[in-house]
Amino acid sequence: MAEDLFIPVSNNREEIYVALIPQIEALISHESNFIANTANTMAALHQTFGFLWVGCYFVEENELVLGPFQGPIACTRISKGKGVCGSAWSTNETIVVPDVDSFPGHIACSSLSKSEIVIPLRKKNGDVLGVLDVDSAVINDFQPLDQKYLEQIAVMLAQRFSE
Ligand code: SME
Repeated sequence: MAEDLFIPVSNNREEIYVALIPQIEALISHESNFIANTANTMAALHQTFGFLWVGCYFVEENELVLGPFQGPIACTRISKGKGVCGSAWSTNETIVVPDVDSFPGHIACSSLSKSEIVIPLRKKNGDVLGVLDVDSAVINDFQPLDQKYLEQIAVMLAQRFSE
């Protein structure tokens, strides 16, 4: 059960990721439904780190459409190349935004969001199937170690995607 996730008593974010990743693996490894796995992974990240918003958007024709998330209500559709999510989709690269006010075209779903990281979710052939978006109420909250571990989580999730 999600509420039984073991969270170490630690202020060290790296230690927390290292403990959390096998738990997410265990959470999703026996379930084949992609939406169910995405929903639980978003909840695990939100519950563990207390990020403002953790969620996924999925590619549908020429837009990203809102998927499972935890946090405040969010915009439902984002065009390719728009905002941080649409840019991560069109470049197929992770984008770290230390200060959202300095990112031209940032889509402000919540005025509380100060920094964010968006990671492409890739199909086996490398095409983007969606993005993982993590928003923080703290400016400059995402460091290289967050990118490293969140990218691992994105791969774990996306490799269980089947069309
Ligand atoms: N951060 C996004 C918009 C989505 S919400 O923040 C949930 C962006 O500019 O792409």
